[in-house]
Amino acid sequence: MEQIRRDFEAVASRWDSNPTRVKIAREVGDAILREVKMTPQMDVLDYGCGTGLLAMQLQPHVHSVCGADSSPAMVAVLQDKIATLKPGNVSTQLVDFERGAHASGSYDLIVSSMVTHHVPDTAALFKEWKRLLKPHGQIAFADLDTEDGAFHGDNTGVFHLGFDRAELRKLLLAAGFAEVRDSTATSVSKEIEGQGAREFPIFLIVATKM
Ligand SMILES: C[S@@+](CC[C@H](N)C(=O)[O-])C[C@H]1O[C@@H](n2cnc3c(N)ncnc32)[C@H](O)[C@@H]1O
Repeated sequence: MEQIRRDFEAVASRWDSNPTRVKIAREVGDAILREVKMTPQMDVLDYGCGTGLLAMQLQPHVHSVCGADSSPAMVAVLQDKIATLKPGNVSTQLVDFERGAHASGSYDLIVSSMVTHHVPDTAALFKEWKRLLKPHGQIAFADLDTEDGAFHGDNTGVFHLGFDRAELRKLLLAAGFAEVRDSTATSVSKEIEGQGAREFPIFLIVATKM
């Protein structure tokens, strides 16, 4: 039986008005630009692109970026940005591999920010990413380090309370990735009721398809 998902439809139109979300995406984008050598030949897939914050940041550095997401409302926001800003190399796909709607195309790099904790089966997601990569293609994904559930507060549709980097490394090696390396992309400070301000570090893991 499918577990209850988070409702991204309801929040898409005001997603970009939350400064914390915009900061996370920008700093994850900066970390990707530091850690991955981008070239004007690269085709990039932003998996779980949301409103395309990361896709739009990376597009000037590469040949193309496709934003893929399972939320029609999120994809619609990115499509509006494309219509207004006319970047010329950004496209969208509505995908949902858990329900059999697989992304298409073949990519040099898959990027993803704050998505993996919303996907119950991480190994299945890595398998899907591997399928979408060209030989020796790379993934660069960011998410929370292990936390106690305080980050979201309402943990509906949060299937992982962050991740242990060493466990992800094992999963990636088992899935056929190599050259796995991690760094800290950013850290979010949040006021938690009764606890004051707490820091939530966000990792970036880069790996290469073997
Ligand atoms: C926390 S948001 C992050 C959005 C964007 N990456 C950002 O940083 O602003 C998670 C996104 O993942 C998408 N998502 C969740 N499960 C997905 C799946 N199985 N396939 C594709 N997208 C998914 C959601 O619709 C949502 O847009």
